[in-house]
Amino acid sequence: MQRIPEPELMTTKEQVDAYAEADFSSGDARTVALVEQLLDETGSLPDNPLIVDLGCGPGNITFRLAALLPNAKVIGIDGSEPMLAVAKQRSVDAPGDLQFICLQLNGIAAHLNNSADLVVSNSLLHHLKDPELLWSVTQSISKPGCRVLHRDLRRPSTLAEVHHLQQQHLPKAPSILIQDFTASLVAAYTTDEVAEQLRRADTTLLRAWPEDDRYLVVSGLVG
Ligand SMILES: C[S@@+](CC[C@H](N)C(=O)[O-])C[C@H]1O[C@@H](n2cnc3c(N)ncnc32)[C@H](O)[C@@H]1O
Repeated sequence: MQRIPEPELMTTKEQVDAYAEADFSSGDARTVALVEQLLDETGSLPDNPLIVDLGCGPGNITFRLAALLPNAKVIGIDGSEPMLAVAKQRSVDAPGDLQFICLQLNGIAAHLNNSADLVVSNSLLHHLKDPELLWSVTQSISKPGCRVLHRDLRRPSTLAEVHHLQQQHLPKAPSILIQDFTASLVAAYTTDEVAEQLRRADTTLLRAWPEDDRYLVVSGLVG
């Protein structure tokens, strides 16, 4: 099935409210579990590490990372002001050293050159017209040895599969969320496409693999 891109930023009030109110806790927990697994495999982070959550939205993963690594400074970055408004509101009583910055992906390298110890994104890649940007930004904001974990949907082979996944995983939800989910599956990249993007970006220590029926994971180190 051919990829059909969706808009990059999530800015409409309806979309932001529906996303912020939805329960993504099992997927979010899985992303953080993969981060923990990566840290188990590659050794602990330095003291007071800098963690960057790209395309952080309302901060679902950012807050979990701050709770997991209380000595870290955690920066959530998103190009959508309305999404960040939710994240900032939620951060008032949240533990940890948290910061939210409104920036589009193509402006991040200038702010955070060679400074991150861990770079994470959840559900960002499928939004990007130019997926190479995620790999170049990951490389340019990372210190040598930076750990990396990106997790996103992967594109099914047929529209029938898209509908099957929607019926299975989101049978009853606000229609805007159902639309977002199906549009995201169609906009997602396949694992082979991502493997090829990584090869072209020369990210030799990052590996892509499919996970369960609808996700893909990219994980490893920046050399
Ligand atoms: C599906 S949401 C995921 C939010 C969050 N990572 C989570 O897992 O809950 C994708 C987010 O990426 C942001 N985004 C998409 N393209 C972006 C870009 N080029 N630069 C910055 N943020 C972007 C959107 O605004 C949106 O908030």
